[in-house]
Amino acid sequence: MCGIVGAIAERNVTAILVEGLKRLEYRGYDSAGVTLLDNHGRLERRRRLGKVSELAHALQEQPLAGKLGIAHTRWATHGAPSEANAHPHFSGEQVAVVHNGIIENHEVLRERLIGLGYVFTSQTDTEVIAHLLHHTLKELPDIADALKATVKQLHGAYGLAAICMAQPDRLVAARSGSPLVIGLGLGENFLASDQLALRQVTDRFVYLEEGDIAEIRRESVQIWDASGAVVQRENVQYHEGAEAADKGIYRHFMLKEIHEQPKVVQRTLEGRLGQNQVLVQAFGPQAAELFAKVRNVQIVACGTSYHAGMVARYWLEELASIPCQVEVASEFRYRKVMVQPDTLFVSISQSGETADTLAALRNAKQMGYLGSLAICNVGISSLVRESDLTLLTQAGPEIGVASTKAFTTQLVALMLLTLSLGQVHGTLAPAQEALLVEELRRLPVRLGEALAMDTTVEHISELFAEKHHTLFLGRGAQFPVAMEGALKLKEISYIHAEAYPAGELKHGPLALVDSDMPVVTVAPNNELLEKLKSNLQEVRARGGELIVFADAEANFTDEVGVHVVAMPHIIDALAPILYTVPLQLLSYYVAVLRGTDVDQPRNLAKSVTVE
Ligand code: F6R
Repeated sequence: MCGIVGAIAERNVTAILVEGLKRLEYRGYDSAGVTLLDNHGRLERRRRLGKVSELAHALQEQPLAGKLGIAHTRWATHGAPSEANAHPHFSGEQVAVVHNGIIENHEVLRERLIGLGYVFTSQTDTEVIAHLLHHTLKELPDIADALKATVKQLHGAYGLAAICMAQPDRLVAARSGSPLVIGLGLGENFLASDQLALRQVTDRFVYLEEGDIAEIRRESVQIWDASGAVVQRENVQYHEGAEAADKGIYRHFMLKEIHEQPKVVQRTLEGRLGQNQVLVQAFGPQAAELFAKVRNVQIVACGTSYHAGMVARYWLEELASIPCQVEVASEFRYRKVMVQPDTLFVSISQSGETADTLAALRNAKQMGYLGSLAICNVGISSLVRESDLTLLTQAGPEIGVASTKAFTTQLVALMLLTLSLGQVHGTLAPAQEALLVEELRRLPVRLGEALAMDTTVEHISELFAEKHHTLFLGRGAQFPVAMEGALKLKEISYIHAEAYPAGELKHGPLALVDSDMPVVTVAPNNELLEKLKSNLQEVRARGGELIVFADAEANFTDEVGVHVVAMPHIIDALAPILYTVPLQLLSYYVAVLRGTDVDQPRNLAKSVTVE
């Protein structure tokens, strides 16, 4: 994904900008560039296709120096990866802009600007912003005023930074749908899309909020909110290691990562949602064209990632009317697969290095699939490098062996895929897409509500402390959620756990049910609820103890042998994401009670790079 770094100082900032870009490399990108306002007052830039090291090399051969600059790593959305499409983009060599996100109305604006005499040198949506800002500066010579007027004309998502030859004492930035953070120094200030990029120069940060515009000078920072009012944003001191390498206030990485889910789901959505639609270009510049040809989807993954794929199958068929098959990679790679025409091959992986998933992708490339899409958490992984399209989950490093935040962000990414395919094919009504986009925006808050049930789930976990076997039940898209719940429990507590579609109970597993076998169920309030209730009666009649995570309006009552945990209400399509949370918490607390090594369970490794 794209990354932004900016700096204004009394010293040459070139090395700071390049180091910042290097720190953002993990996000994945295809080209990099930097612009400095040089000592002669000119905007100079270097851009290179490929790695930041290529850019650094170019800067060694043809050095640039300046006290004000912006830099960018680009992950192509509009226009192929190329030097001409790499940022920063110029207008008249007077204005330079870097941008993360997608400008939805770029075509209309481009036509208008061409009419005004602007000449475009790239295929990007970003160049539109540079020319628009340049044009606005003629009327409003102050760059902050000009930026405020410019962003009013942009539809879509952006985090952007601009500098201007005529105003060498400031850097301006705007945030809407794509994050930006200001780094505070002494007599120097910085900007980045992720504070990671600036840890080399400061530990004090100010996070811009949605709709904010900022003017950053050497000695001061001014911020306006969406209404144009001057605002003060909190100044946050960063403690080294607070993000990834440190458990912070949590006892285990797993618990920390479970609690990070609202934040990382928010990050996974950032820059990918328009007003009422998913921005299809978030999947890459060729995505819309490729998606239009897709008639089937084949998903391949392992473990938890496979469970995410199983949920997506329900979504793709129900919401986008696209037939979908899902298979574990270790089976897929050795099976003679009959490839349906126009099938998109989708691999899902946290690490992007899982041997079976990678081998399945490599085989698939010889098998006549329409194209390949990787849904992955690591931008520089083999899976990403070798796939035609990528959508990165923004879960950040996952340290606990048991996957938690990677799973929920994969589900979010797969929902974005579903909505994109439905949109491109016209199989999903625009009103329904708008509703789902709205609900996706609310999802981080819902996840926060589910996490607030932490203590309730901790109490429930006591029921499992002495047990040896459990059953997890779900129906529809909640069946894979039950599978994921069972996998989590067995992985870290070593209790034997099996998941079944609830309707299968009487076809065999009911024989196992007795008072020593707790049965966990996820029960959102949907059309399968009544059927699920009858299945649960079958369990109660055999003396089985029930733990039901149910919608507050699903009319379950706590009674002897039935423990009901009321879940926040959520639209059915997104329920699998929400109902995953209490199951993660349950397995965590059971493992803690049993005294196992939660973050590094026996026999398991985080990234399975062998077959
Ligand atoms: C379970 C877990 C594993 C992984 C699986 C695939 O908690 O973490 O089942 O999901 O090994 O790994 P990735 O997603 O890296 O391909």
